[in-house]
Amino acid sequence: MKRLPFIAGNWKMNKTVEEALDLVRSLKASLKDIKDVEVAIAPPFTALHPVSQELKGSSIHLAGQNLFWEEKGAFTGEISPVMLKEINCRYAIIGHSERRQFFGETDETVNRRIRAALNQGLRVIFCVGETLQEREKGINFLVVERQIEGGLKDLGEKAIQSLVIAYEPVWAIGTGKTATPQQAEEVHQFIRQKMRFLYSPKIAENLRIQYGGSVTPENIKSLMDQEDIDGALVGGASLNADSFSRIVRFKEM
Ligand code: 13P
Repeated sequence: MKRLPFIAGNWKMNKTVEEALDLVRSLKASLKDIKDVEVAIAPPFTALHPVSQELKGSSIHLAGQNLFWEEKGAFTGEISPVMLKEINCRYAIIGHSERRQFFGETDETVNRRIRAALNQGLRVIFCVGETLQEREKGINFLVVERQIEGGLKDLGEKAIQSLVIAYEPVWAIGTGKTATPQQAEEVHQFIRQKMRFLYSPKIAENLRIQYGGSVTPENIKSLMDQEDIDGALVGGASLNADSFSRIVRFKEM
C-alpha cells in the first residue's frame, strides 16, 4: 500500500494576520484541484483563527507549531490542545529542533506534549534530527533513535496511528544545504525499521515520514522519489505561494 504524500508548511515566526490571509488566499486558489496529496500549513498562533476561517471548505489542513500539555490553567504564554482543536487544527508540530535548541525542549517534554495532543484528538507531526556535530561524530542514527524512544515513551499502537514523523537534520534547516536524497532515505529507512521493532510491521508500513530541511521546488521530486520519504515539512519555501504550490505539485514535474 502506498502512503498518501503529506506536504506541510511550517511558517515559524513569520506573517502578520494580514500577510497570512494573503498567502492562504493564494494557496487556496493555486491548490484547489489537488487531491492526491495531503496539505497542511502551520501559521503562527496569532494568525491561526483568521486562517482557519479562511480555510473553511478548503482541503488544506491547519496545524499549530507547538502546544502545552495541560488543558488550561496558570501557564502564561502557553496554548493548549483544546484551544487548537477548537479552531479546527488537525495537526500540531511537536519537538521541532528550534524548540529543542532555543526553548529548552527535551525528549521528556516532547513526550508530554505528544501525549496531550493525541489525547485531545489532534494528529502530531513529531520532529527528530541530528545536529551537524552529531552527524560528524557519526552518531546521527543514535540521536534519532534516542529522540524516538524518548518522544514516544508510553504511547500505544492506537495513538501512533495519528502520528507523522518529520526527519529534519538541523544542519539542513534554513541553510540551503539539503540532505541528499540518499542521506535522507537511509535515516527514513532507519526510522521505519525502528517503528517496526517498537510497534508492528503494519504501523511502520503505514507511518508517514516527512523530510525537512531546505526543501525547494527544485529538490522535492528527487526526495519524494525515495521509497521511505512520504512528504516534506517545508520552512522558508512555504512562505511564498508559488514555491509552496510547486512543492505540493511535485508529481507534475
Ligand atoms: P527550511 O525549509 O527553511 O530549511 O526549514 C525546515 C524546517 O525547519 C521546517 O520545519
